[in-house]
This record gives sequence, structure tokens and C-alpha cells, in this order.
Amino acid sequence: MSSVLISPSILSADFAKLGEEVRSIDEAGADMIHVDVMDGHFVPNLTLGPPIIKALRPHSQKRFDVHLMIAPVDPFIADFADAGADILTVHPEAGPHLHRTLQSIRSHDMKAGVALNPATPVDAVDYVMDDVDLILVMSVNPGFGGQSFIDSQLRKIEALRHKIDQTGRDIILEVDGGLKPENAQAAISAGVTAIVAGSAVFKGGPEAYAANIAALRPK
Ligand code: DX5
Ligand code: ZN
Repeated sequence: MSSVLISPSILSADFAKLGEEVRSIDEAGADMIHVDVMDGHFVPNLTLGPPIIKALRPHSQKRFDVHLMIAPVDPFIADFADAGADILTVHPEAGPHLHRTLQSIRSHDMKAGVALNPATPVDAVDYVMDDVDLILVMSVNPGFGGQSFIDSQLRKIEALRHKIDQTGRDIILEVDGGLKPENAQAAISAGVTAIVAGSAVFKGGPEAYAANIAALRPK
């Protein structure tokens, strides 16, 4: 299988030169650009928002895979659409009306994703399978880069692979957190079609990005 998308998380990039970093990972073979938005409330960390995404937009034609770790989400959906997000992924715990939120994302011409925390069960998506374009399995607790992969999430990936296959729809199954060349293959074998990696892609600086991305691809 060679169709796994690699989505480097710019959380591990050099924030003093983000535009250049986005161009570098694009040229190094990234399939999407993963942007982690944190609000210091839903998760214990603060990162960036729509103005920075808008500023980065001209630096790559690749899809911007925007992972929202914010609550609430709904008042900001239009801002992320204007900023140039292609996929907007939300956590079910971030608001009381997940179905409404997913509809709103799609109504703004973006793809809609749902992210499941390590302790969130797979049935959180049972009744929104027709409303999602991407399901993101968090293999760390959201908030920080550089954490260790939680192995129990491989079983969750397998269960979601089965659920997605039953729909017959082309829903991206993405994994995020602690991915490295040593464990990427296990996630791919379990059924993911997209891999997010921050520290594993950005380590070693721009000269290493192409090799770091290639090392995450299916063997
Ligand atoms: C964690 C973020 C991840 C993180 C991945 O809250 O959603 O995208 O930056 O970083 P690594 O690959 O270093 O675990
Ligand atoms: Zn993320």
C-alpha cells in the first residue's frame, strides 16, 4: 500500500520562520500540512489561529489539515474557511452539537473531520459517519508535540478501519501523536491512510525533511 498521506505538524517547526518551514516540508514531499490550533482551555497549550493560517496559505498548494483543539468551535468556522483551511477537524468534547458543527464546516466548503482522544470510544462517530470526511485517532493526549505513542490506539484504528470500510465511503483515517519510523508501519497495518508527525519530521532541520518524511511511508 503506497497511498498513505504524510501530514507534517508545523507545531514542531521553527515558529520564527513558519512560511519558509511550510515551503520546505512541501518541497520535501509532504502530502498535507497539519496545523494544530490550541486555545489554552480545551488543551493546556496555546498556539495559533486564523491570521497565521492565512499568512501561511500562499506558501503551499497542499491541503491545510487543520486540527482544532479549541472550545467552542462554531463561532470560528467561517474564520478558518476564510483563512484557507481545507480540512477542519474537531473533537466531539469541544461542543454539545457535533452533528451541527460538522454540517457547518461542510457548508463553508471545507472537509469535516472528527478527532478522538485516547479515551474517547469509537462509537462517538457511529451516527455521523455520513457527515465526516476524516477521522483522526489521537495516539497521545492532545496539547503537546514530542509525546510517546499510546499503543492501545492501534486497536481503535482497527475498529475504525472496519467501520469506515462498511460505509463504502472514502473517509481518511488519520493518526496523530508520537509517530516515528519505528511505529508508523504498525499504524499503517492497522488501517490508517494518513499519518501526522511533528517532531519526527522536523528533527535535523530542512536538509533532513525529505528523508524524515520518506521514513514514515509504507515499507
Ligand atoms: C498534539 C498534536 C499533534 C502533535 C504531533 O496535540 O495534535 O499534531 O503536534 O507531534 P509529534 O509527532 O511530535 O507527537
Ligand atoms: Zn494534531
